[in-house]
Amino acid sequence: MAKHQATSRSIVLLEPSPANLSGFEDALAKGWSPDPRRQTDRAYVEAELTTLRHDRAAFLARLTSGDVIATSVSDREPQRLVLRPFWIWDGEFCGYITFRHLPGTHLLPLHLPGHVGYSIVPWKQGRGYATQALQLLLPMAARAGFERISVICNEDNLASRRVIEKAGGRLHHAGPDPSDATDTIKLFFWLATTVRDGV
Ligand SMILES: CC(C)(COP(=O)(O)OP(=O)(O)OC[C@H]1O[C@@H](n2cnc3c(N)ncnc32)[C@H](O)[C@@H]1OP(=O)(O)O)[C@@H](O)C(=O)NCCC(=O)NCCS
Repeated sequence: MAKHQATSRSIVLLEPSPANLSGFEDALAKGWSPDPRRQTDRAYVEAELTTLRHDRAAFLARLTSGDVIATSVSDREPQRLVLRPFWIWDGEFCGYITFRHLPGTHLLPLHLPGHVGYSIVPWKQGRGYATQALQLLLPMAARAGFERISVICNEDNLASRRVIEKAGGRLHHAGPDPSDATDTIKLFFWLATTVRDGV
């Protein structure tokens, strides 16, 4: 069977803003779920769309307001999770990638599946965009003080696994994820944020 080759272009990562929020809104209106765990949850998508249209500024603010985490991963006081969301953009909205971390530690609260979350709308998949986005995120993580970040995917999410491995991810563990109530097997990768050996 002939393999369909979608048109590939370079992407950029854009910070969500009032000027580009309509791209995200249009994707929701087409039924796209931004949460990989709720891809078929129509009610969730409708609720997100309603919330966005009710107060666009508040919706944008919510994207970057991380919860305050009271956690045993650090001996320090509870800290606010840092959320850095970006739209993946090829001239149009293609999806998002978010870098999330606690200040000053590579450890994550148990409810979070890795330092990175991403999703590409179905009509922009298969063009290398998730791979490009993950690679673009690495220097940002390095600047935030991370030599490596944790990236996780479901064992059966072959496309996401391929994205992580193409970006240099090294599998270090497979098993259930404490952040997930199901017993789905997850693959845990480390992803170096800087190229070594003088390259
Ligand atoms: C996973 C996802 C982000 C990939 O986005 P994408 O932009 O299509 O990914 P890319 O084009 O950069 O790369 C996909 C790679 O996976 C491969 N791939 C796609 N489907 C595959 C499958 N069923 N089996 C094996 N490999 C597959 C592609 O061939 C490509 O590899 P290649 O470049 O070597 O050919 C996208 O499918 C998505 O948003 N899925 C739903 C949300 C999700 O799963 N998010 C990740 C949570 S961890």
